[in-house]
Amino acid sequence: MDYQLLNEKLIGLSRGVDYDITILANASALIYRYLAWVSWCGFYILMDGSLKLGPFQGKYACAKIMPGEGVCGTAAAEDRTVVVPNVSEFDGYIACDNATNSEIVIPIHRNGRLFAVWDLDSIVYNRFSPEDVAGLEFLVRSLENILDTIDVK
Ligand code: SME
Repeated sequence: MDYQLLNEKLIGLSRGVDYDITILANASALIYRYLAWVSWCGFYILMDGSLKLGPFQGKYACAKIMPGEGVCGTAAAEDRTVVVPNVSEFDGYIACDNATNSEIVIPIHRNGRLFAVWDLDSIVYNRFSPEDVAGLEFLVRSLENILDTIDVK
């Protein structure tokens, strides 16, 4: 996947947009459209101490996740990317869709503080290669730069 091209599309879609949720909505749609074998792509936003379901593409999902719970909560609590090649081997995995077999969650910061996590699921085992991890983390850095230009309301 050409993550440089996806980044150009992300920047283009975000240009002039002054609302964070709009940016996340288009980011989830962009990646869902272009990344093969991604069955769910979306954001959980850290608010009032829990991760709340934000913009996403795919099947309806759990509305709230506590830090430390599941893959999303682990990524948030430990502030690191978590790659799960086989979700059945992840202790405490939260199954929103039984068809999911692999997953990646990447923390997103805003003005230096944890703001949200980006969650991508696949029905394919081991879907997210080291190249995908690097590419998606690159997109997250770009997303952080975009979000930092918007005033927090
Ligand atoms: N599987 C995630 C929950 C979110 S859904 O996959 C959309 C987890 O364990 O945190």
